[in-house]
Amino acid sequence: MLSSSSATIVAATLPAVRAAAVDISTTFYAGMFAEHPALLDLFNRGNQANGDQQRALAGAVIAYAESLLSGVDVDPVVRRIAHKHASLGIRPEQYTIVGRHLLSAVARVLGPAVTPAVETAWDEVFWLFAVRLIAAETRLGQQQGVDPARPLEPWRVVGKYAEAHDAVSLLLAPESGGVPEHRPGQYVTVAVDLPGAGRQARQYTISHGPGHSALRITVRPVRGTPDGLVSGHIADRLTVGDTVAVSRPFGDLTLDDDMTPV
Ligand SMILES: Cc1cc2nc3c(=O)[nH]c(=O)nc-3n(C[C@H](O)[C@H](O)[C@H](O)COP(=O)(O)OP(=O)(O)OC[C@H]3O[C@@H](n4cnc5c(N)ncnc54)[C@H](O)[C@@H]3O)c2cc1C
Ligand code: HEM
Repeated sequence: MLSSSSATIVAATLPAVRAAAVDISTTFYAGMFAEHPALLDLFNRGNQANGDQQRALAGAVIAYAESLLSGVDVDPVVRRIAHKHASLGIRPEQYTIVGRHLLSAVARVLGPAVTPAVETAWDEVFWLFAVRLIAAETRLGQQQGVDPARPLEPWRVVGKYAEAHDAVSLLLAPESGGVPEHRPGQYVTVAVDLPGAGRQARQYTISHGPGHSALRITVRPVRGTPDGLVSGHIADRLTVGDTVAVSRPFGDLTLDDDMTPV
């Protein structure tokens, strides 16, 4: 719960932060990537270029601040982000980096309006959100038996076939151990090494039911200007025998066990 002194300040500054949210996020990412270039591999380069991730982060922090003030529950949003973060292997210590750069971006964009008291109040919002996400992500990782040091593991492409003229299915098998259990509707994060362009990770829904010796994903390559990085790589270049990095299954948009006809 937000302290009452911070609640007053957050309520007063929310309109200014909301108006500058995309600028704040853009400044934040530029500062963070300049200091931590390795994080570029973690984030979707297409989303960075077209602004989607800027809007996602800004929207989430503002929605969380509003929920702290109004008491309206945002648990479904927290769950959705936590599943995505858990599938990417986001670590608790990375929140310190994000928090520091985010707060410094708020101060840079809003200038002298950000007094030490304003900074403290928004720091409190950030950490209330962060602690909730870290707890949810840790729990999810433990439930899925993830080794925090290796959240994505090497899997081999053991099959590849066209599903339609614009969709390809991959059959993937872990290099060690068995295929983890999943619920219909869950996804895995798949990371590929792009020739000369670093590593990129994307989410793909598991496209068959549980109980197989290999896990199937079905990918529709995004064609456009430019072509989608990962879907294009999977459709055009990945072949049987190649290795990709795959997460455990995550995602809470699933069918309940006791649901009768959908
Ligand atoms: C939970 C979940 C499940 C999913 N399941 C599936 C699934 O089962 N099957 C499936 O096919 N997809 C699925 N997706 C989508 C998938 O994760 C990818 O988003 C999709 O494959 C596109 O990724 P990409 O790397 O090919 O495209 P990206 O490289 O991320 O490009 C995405 C868009 O951004 C544009 N873009 C890229 N770079 C730039 C730039 N420099 N400037 C301007 N625009 C740019 C591209 O033209 C494209 O339109 C799922 C997503 C989620 C979140
Ligand atoms: C309170 C802090 C944070 C908030 C509010 C937040 C919010 C979000 C949101 C809303 C999304 C989009 C979720 C979706 O698509 O369903 C997202 C994705 C993501 N987050 Fe966070 N996040 C936070 C911390 C972090 C940290 C610490 C890292 C690691 C450095 C991180 C890395 C990512 C990555 C890599 C993605 C996927 C981005 C992409 O595919 O472009 N986030 N986050």
